[in-house]
Amino acid sequence: MYLFKTVQDYSNFLQHLDGDSTSIGFVPTMGALHDGHLSLIKASKEQNALTVCSIFVNPTQFNESTDLLKYPRTPGKDIELLASAGCDVIFMPSPEEVYPPGVDLASPIPPSDLVSGMEGQFRPGHFEGVVQVVKRLLDIVQPARLYMGQKDYQQAAIIGWMIQSLELPVELVVCPIMREEDGLAMSSRNVRLERDIRARATLLHQTLTAVKEKLNESSIQDLKALALGNLSQKDFRPEYFEIVDGVSLQPLEKINATDFVVACTAVWAGEVRLIDNMILQSGA
Ligand code: PAJ
Repeated sequence: MYLFKTVQDYSNFLQHLDGDSTSIGFVPTMGALHDGHLSLIKASKEQNALTVCSIFVNPTQFNESTDLLKYPRTPGKDIELLASAGCDVIFMPSPEEVYPPGVDLASPIPPSDLVSGMEGQFRPGHFEGVVQVVKRLLDIVQPARLYMGQKDYQQAAIIGWMIQSLELPVELVVCPIMREEDGLAMSSRNVRLERDIRARATLLHQTLTAVKEKLNESSIQDLKALALGNLSQKDFRPEYFEIVDGVSLQPLEKINATDFVVACTAVWAGEVRLIDNMILQSGA
């Protein structure tokens, strides 16, 4: 496994690859890796000759500086996990490598339809930062395929939009949500949950499952009310629970208005903000 910390070192490595036979699969991360991240590495290894994982805690996507400071960093463990998962290359740049001082890195502005709701409403500027860093990392890494998790549904949809609108020569592969045994979606933030709150944090998955089961018997308004009621418990405070079109991300008023229906939620569990989602109807 190679570890590169500079763009120059990674570019030198790229130049010496046999361009004809090598397809690169790319998994961008912010580290503090868990089995959810490793499932993306596995998917990439199955489809590509070479798998590159980046570890970069991107300052431009944190709208709260305390969240950036509190973001868990476990580089030693991450490197070990990636080595045992069979990752070929780790790219671990400093902020100066990603955002060289004095260089103006143009990045597309996502349409407000995609960024103004859900995460975008509660984390202003977040997706602009995500688009900026993923575009920059794609330019550096030059993969054929990009692996992202459904866990961050809105993020994956926005990156899909970026790839399409810029006609980037990369295929986006969205991988399923990996969950703990009790249903809690794996997340780097889970380690910050207090023990008692962690024990009850399966509430998000339970609520999404209950909504899916009742999909054909209730109106959207009733489903949302049920979910928000369920999620409002001691120590838990929902920020949103939305039922949206899986492509446009626009809130639905009626289920049969579209084939592709996704429920997305963000909930404060004590001091930790958790997100989760579930495809309620895929249309396929
Ligand atoms: P991070 O939160 O580290 O997540 C990296 C990738 O892992 C994302 O595509 C995310 O959706 C995926 N992932 C996280 N938890 C998962 C789970 N339980 N199951 C499956 N996949 C999961 O998302 C980011 O970093 C950043 O915004 C990034 C895209 C790297 C840009 O900075």
